[in-house]
Amino acid sequence: MNQLLSKYEKEIERIRAKYPADQQRSALMPLLFLAQRDEGYISLQSMHEIGEILEISTTEVTTLVGFYSLFQQEPGGRYRIQICNDIACALRGADEFLQQVCDYLGVKPGETTEDGLFTVESVMCLASCLNAPLFQVQGDGAIRYHDHQTLETAIAFIESVRENQAREAA
Ligand code: FES
Repeated sequence: MNQLLSKYEKEIERIRAKYPADQQRSALMPLLFLAQRDEGYISLQSMHEIGEILEISTTEVTTLVGFYSLFQQEPGGRYRIQICNDIACALRGADEFLQQVCDYLGVKPGETTEDGLFTVESVMCLASCLNAPLFQVQGDGAIRYHDHQTLETAIAFIESVRENQAREAA
């Protein structure tokens, strides 16, 4: 049984209706976003099910997922802090910035904090090279850029998220 289809039949229909019958593979990106919104990452099972819905191979789906840092293949924290340390950002101190943020959170790149709130990841160019150091945050179904960062501004962001989380839990 295709679980994604059973759970989101109407939404999947709406997405597919935006594309002509012979261009259904164009629905791949929105279907991947849907799967990621559902689980926080895209499991192999979801990739297989999306391939089935669009009548394309699982390999075609996994290839696309692997290409974009916006798509996650492993479970992680509620918020993914994705720090670009590609060449242009590295020249503006991104490696050191990545290390500082990791040290502050007590994790290594790719790891998740014990409270499950943050995963820190090192990613390739986010197309905002002039604004380094920077990171994007994926979480709660949104993606937000944080440009011109310092350790202090990153800590302020992290602590504001923790405060919100504490308020939600209260
Ligand atoms: S190299 Fe970091 S945004 Fe381009």
